[in-house]
Amino acid sequence: MARVALVTGGSRGIGAAISKALKAQGCTVAATYAGNDAAAAAFTDETGIKTYKWNAADYDASKAGIAQVEADLGPIDIVVANAGITRDAPFHKMTPEQWREVIDTNLTGVFNTIHPVWPGMRERKFGRIVVISSINGQKGQFGQVNYAATKAGDLGIVKSLAQEGARFGITANAVCPGYIATEMVMAVPEKVREAIIGQIPTGRLGEPEEIARCVAFLVADDAGFVNGSTISANGAQFFA
Ligand code: CAA
Repeated sequence: MARVALVTGGSRGIGAAISKALKAQGCTVAATYAGNDAAAAAFTDETGIKTYKWNAADYDASKAGIAQVEADLGPIDIVVANAGITRDAPFHKMTPEQWREVIDTNLTGVFNTIHPVWPGMRERKFGRIVVISSINGQKGQFGQVNYAATKAGDLGIVKSLAQEGARFGITANAVCPGYIATEMVMAVPEKVREAIIGQIPTGRLGEPEEIARCVAFLVADDAGFVNGSTISANGAQFFA
């Protein structure tokens, strides 16, 4: 039986590359998105991957959406918690709203995505969880107190879940992308982006497929002893 994989934020950017890689690996994939209907429809047309619309920051919506995915495709074996947002500002200018939005999506959203599938994974004695963290959760980043806090928190989630899930055949791992050529990074002011690229020894932004490659490795059936780990893919910009 094909493994069923859920990828949040799976119709654009890094998430879209992950959805495609898992499909190529033989998984039945459900990709979620929060708002961009046109991009989701185009993604399904291109890939044949089913998309589902809900807000990862909303627990009830996540639970209901996950129940729908399982009714359509079967029990979820693989979860990739990828959905994330930025609301960058230096700390003295950061508003409580900017803080909350990022915490709700990038940190609570990870809880909301994993919590509803966890009991089923425990019962079936198999699960693969990957959380997409960030280089900026490892090193911090000027202008990203909110984002860096969530991405560091994601690493705590993974290391704790790894310990709780191990005896049930569940692994939980993190991938920390560096700066990848996606809309999120392209939204950074050009001068700032150029300066960042100057700090990457590989001399370029990463490609979404280079992150998807890491995820495909971690979710494979025979990756069961890789548990609680963090794969950094950042062009040698930072060593955790
Ligand atoms: N380091 C040190 N000082 C910096 C700085 C930096 N990286 N960036 C700005 N400053 C300084 C400026 O030079 C300026 O100093 P002066 O007042 O002495 O001139 C001061 O900070 C304020 O700068 P701005 O007026 O430009 O501040 P701003 O309100 O316009 O906001 C910012 C700046 C939004 C933080 C902007 O610098 C920015 O967008 N930085 C990029 C943050 C970033 O890397 N985001 C990652 C997005 S991609 C992502 O998140 C994916 C992933 O996982 C990697």
